[in-house]
Amino acid sequence: MTARRFPHEFTWGAATSSYQVEGAVTADGRGESIWDRFAHTPGRVAGGDTGDVACDHYHRYREDVALLAELGLGAYRFSVAWPRVLPDGTGPVNQAGLGFYDRLVDELLEHGITPFVTLYHWDLPQALEDSGGWPARSTAEAFAEYASTVAGRLGDRVAHFATLNEPFVVSHLGYRTGEHAPGRTEPDAALAAAHHLLVAHGLAVPAMRAAAPRAAVGIVLNFGATHPATAHPLDLEAAIVAHDQANRWFLDPLMGRGYPEEGARAWGWRRGEVADGDLELIAAPIDFLGVNYYTRDVVRSPALPPLPPPTKAPERTGMGWEVYPQGLVEVLQLVASRTGELPLYVTENGAAYPVDERDPTADPERVRFLARHFDAALTALEAGVPLRGYFVWSLLDNFEWAHGYAQRFGIVHVDFDTQERRLRDSARFVAHVARSGDPTPVTGA
Ligand code: FCB
Repeated sequence: MTARRFPHEFTWGAATSSYQVEGAVTADGRGESIWDRFAHTPGRVAGGDTGDVACDHYHRYREDVALLAELGLGAYRFSVAWPRVLPDGTGPVNQAGLGFYDRLVDELLEHGITPFVTLYHWDLPQALEDSGGWPARSTAEAFAEYASTVAGRLGDRVAHFATLNEPFVVSHLGYRTGEHAPGRTEPDAALAAAHHLLVAHGLAVPAMRAAAPRAAVGIVLNFGATHPATAHPLDLEAAIVAHDQANRWFLDPLMGRGYPEEGARAWGWRRGEVADGDLELIAAPIDFLGVNYYTRDVVRSPALPPLPPPTKAPERTGMGWEVYPQGLVEVLQLVASRTGELPLYVTENGAAYPVDERDPTADPERVRFLARHFDAALTALEAGVPLRGYFVWSLLDNFEWAHGYAQRFGIVHVDFDTQERRLRDSARFVAHVARSGDPTPVTGA
């Protein structure tokens, strides 16, 4: 029997984001971001952790690029910190900050690694939050300017730009639940933020195309398989609402289908912030879509009594997220049903597990997690989904937002006292898959 394999031209990479890995928060004129402010507010982040130093990627990027090269990965997904480029969010460009990304891109290209650049992975300049944040339309306009500045500077060498990472998380964790920066708990503001994030994307796409005519422009969304807890009609209804709000809220308007009705009704959204022409703007054609997938959501209607815990608990990661690889097939097929031939990338997938203190490089659970998800991606590809690449989250252990450094997602272990990096077994496994296209773990791994 011949092993099932990914095609030779399939892109394999690893991902990080600026605030989670860079550190160097005051270097070379960087301005304050909402995550600096939030992490330094007592009680917001587990253990009082901050991104002040993180993986010190700002100073150690050469070493990190060398790791990618050693692993034979063809691509690196990273994000640009807006407050490095425009310390106050708008106004004069801080050339020293932009220079870092110039050097990083050159270093990657010298090693034959393709940069995939995300322009917004959650580190909004604090000055823009002070003037209203994402619930204010002016933030969307500022984003388009920032995005075209970066595209203009890097677009001669960068062929893939994503505007935003996970606008769902930005709007709802940032402005509804307050679990993420800026920590606001204002449901109407969250809906306004969600809309303005899409407006920001819609304004940025043509601005970036003008500044970087050769580059592909896309966006990264998060998806979860969303299932009703039982066959009770109220659970079915609740799952439809959750599916609208989590999976379709951004995808549908991007694809010119408008906002999903059931989700909008359940949120009681009055659409006051939707201006004439916004839906056309948001549906500007894109060149690829990034899909982030981690787990599934089992939805119970709030009108029904909670269910007793299952007799056999599902397998979970260190984050408590259910391990549900078949959901990746489901999500990719759902997305492709809306996006047709548009190239798709898994821009994030991975898992946090507690570190084995005797050997921090041994991570059999992560190897198994990844192998099962790679297999699911291959199943989707075989079923006709135009999947072009896969980025593991994350290259490095890093600052996992409100969880601080307690949750480790890296295929590379980081000792945060010494900044020493060590390849985990999962890194070697990803290297093997990237080389061979064969998603099955080597025996013994
Ligand atoms: C995603 C984020 C990423 C990381 C993973 C675990 O939602 O995009 O930064 O935190 O979750």
